This record gives sequence, C-alpha cells and structure tokens, in this order.
Amino acid sequence: MNRWWDDKRFGDIDSPTYVYNQAIIREQAFLVRKEMNDITLLYALKANSHPIILDQMKNEELIDGVDVASLGELRKALRAGFPPGSISVTGPSKPLRFLKECLSVQVGTICVESIVEMERICTLGGMQSGNLLLRVNPKEEVRAFQLKISGRSTPFGVDEEDLGEALDYLKSRRHVLPFKGIHVHAGSQCFSARGFSLHTQAVLDLANDVKNYGLPVSIINLGGGMGYGNWLPHRKADIVAFGNQLRYIRGQHGFEGEVRIEPGRFLVAPSGVYATPICTIKESRGTTFVILEGGVNHLFALSHIGYQTKQIWVEKQSFGEGESKKVQLVGPLCTPVDSFGGLVELKNPRVGDVLLFPCNGSYGLSMSPTGFLSHPLPQERFVDYE
Ligand SMILES: Cc1ncc(COP(=O)(O)O)c(C=O)c1O
Repeated sequence: MNRWWDDKRFGDIDSPTYVYNQAIIREQAFLVRKEMNDITLLYALKANSHPIILDQMKNEELIDGVDVASLGELRKALRAGFPPGSISVTGPSKPLRFLKECLSVQVGTICVESIVEMERICTLGGMQSGNLLLRVNPKEEVRAFQLKISGRSTPFGVDEEDLGEALDYLKSRRHVLPFKGIHVHAGSQCFSARGFSLHTQAVLDLANDVKNYGLPVSIINLGGGMGYGNWLPHRKADIVAFGNQLRYIRGQHGFEGEVRIEPGRFLVAPSGVYATPICTIKESRGTTFVILEGGVNHLFALSHIGYQTKQIWVEKQSFGEGESKKVQLVGPLCTPVDSFGGLVELKNPRVGDVLLFPCNGSYGLSMSPTGFLSHPLPQERFVDYE
C-alpha cells in the first residue's frame, strides 16, 4: 500500500493534527469509477465533510453528486457548489424545516424513510421536481457488512413487511410524491464481493416486488459500505471484484434503470492520518498508560465504544531504537471511554513522540465529540502527492 504518511515533511507536527492527502482521494475515486463504470457515484458527506475535500470532489468532478443527512450537510454541499439536482438526502430524522429547505433549493432526490416523512413533504406542497426514493429495511440482513444497519429492527427506512402500506400511500399521492425507486444501505465495512452481490440481488428483488405492486422502479440506490480497515492486519474491499459482481447481477436481473452507490469511507479513509504527540507516560498497577494529547475527542471511531474492536493500527513517527512495550493508549478526557482499543505494542515510547493512526480520513473528526472538555480542535493539513 502507498505509505504516504512516512514522509519526512510531517516531522514538524507537535500538536494533534489530521493530515489528508488529496492524491489518495483522487486515486480512490478513479478506482471506483473505473471498476464500477456503469453506476452513479455519490459521496456520503458524513464520512468527512471538510470544505477542501468537497471542493476537490466538485472541481475535479470525482463524483456525480453527494448524499447528505442533515441541514448542515445540505448547506455544506451547496456551499461547495454542488448543483441541487446532484444532491440526495437520506437520514432517519428529517424535521419539517430540513425538508422545507430541501424542497426550496430543489434537491435532486429525497429518500423517505417513513410515511410521516411523506406526509411532511405533502404538507409542504409536495416535490415539484426530482426523485423520491423509498428507503427500505429488508427482512434479511447481509452478514458481510461488519456494521449492520438493516435487516434487523432499526430506525432506518420502512420495514419490508410494511412496504405495502408505504407503497399505497405513494400511489395515492403520485402527483406530489414523484416515486422513482428504492434505497437500501445495508451497513458499513463490507469486504466480501459475494456479500455485496447478495445485497445487490436483494435490492433488485425488492425492486421487482415494488414493480409488481404497480410502481415502476427506474432508480435503485445500493447505499455505501465498501470496507476500508483502520486496524491491523489492514484490509480493504476488492473493488475490481465488487464491480464484476455488480455487473453480473445487474445483467442477470436485466435491470435497465440507474444504479447508484453512495460510499463514504472507501473514498476518503486512506487519505487521512491522525497524528498526536504523547503527553505523559504513567504506570498504574502493572499497566503502562500512554496519555496522548488528543484522544476520542478527535478520533471517536477508535474508542472501544466506537467502531474499533480489532487491533489498533498505530505507528511511531520516529522509529526509535529500544524495547517494544505493551501499552494502553488513552486520550486527554476525564473518562475511561477515552481509550483507544486494547493494549498495543509500541517501540520505546517517550514523551513528545508523535503517534500516527493511518487510514482515518473517514469518520475521524466528523464523528468525534470535540466539545467534551473543550480541548483545542486538531489542526487539519492538506497535501497532494502520489
Ligand atoms: C445512508 C447511508 N449512506 C451511505 C453511508 C456511507 O457508508 P460508508 O462510509 O460505510 O460507505 C452511510 C453511513 O452510515 C449511510 O448511513
């Protein structure tokens, strides 16, 4: 893999810092485009909505549009210059004021997740243009997604069992709810092309059911979820195999409409490294605590209640000589929650050494509780080299 963070240029880091490499974002987007050439590629802003990343994606035309989940994300996308028609809105909480702004700027797609949301859109006069997709929570979960958010009891989408009621509502309001298809986001961190194809198959089967119910489907959105690990041993989704599976299943099914995907992590994860100095080292009853300047307040995903359940991927910037030691990495917050996974092996850790956490360009700062204890925000730097 491209270990761009080994570069000497980062030797001056002396406080918590994210470094993002824009060349890697470009590379990831080119890869997805090349291998999944017959899809519409949206970027899920929740993974990282830094304005510089959005500007890059927009100006370099790396993607076809964006998936936003809140009023704040909608405004960020508009500020970056994405045409409203290229914006798709999904998320379980869409208050009236959010939907009102979506309609007034004329976003291209709203993925509704309940009859209540459809009622709200009707109250606001309906969607005069664009596409309405129905987010569905299928009966079966796809086990290949490590973080599953459908196929079980969830607040996301309409349960497959209740599809009839939702479709009846859509049928009765066709003039204000321009139904075009379905959206299913199965979850995150899928590394199996076979798992992704099972998911695609399930969504196409659902599309058939909807069509048989009397509502034609011209768009399916398969959500995101292509995996990119920030743990050791490192893993990533084989996008060539994902692309092949997608083409195969689609061909078998004979679906001729538009297929959308909306990855977040896969496009940006490898582009970002979080770096933080060691502040203090302490022994307590047989455990060595390495207390970092920044912790889960900057990188919640590595906490044991975040996503991280595997071996933390951490490197020391200066590969000093000396003994390896098993240590517990903790952050600066006054809570035991602020600890990065389990014990990790570090070579000769010293106060002032900078630790690097690779592959955290996604779900880093954007999902961290930065307000707790009011520590300064980390710096965010951008570089652009192969
Ligand atoms: C609706 C929806 N789409 C896309 C994504 C992006 O997922 P990922 O970053 O795993 O690709 C998410 C993530 O939670 C999501 O909820």
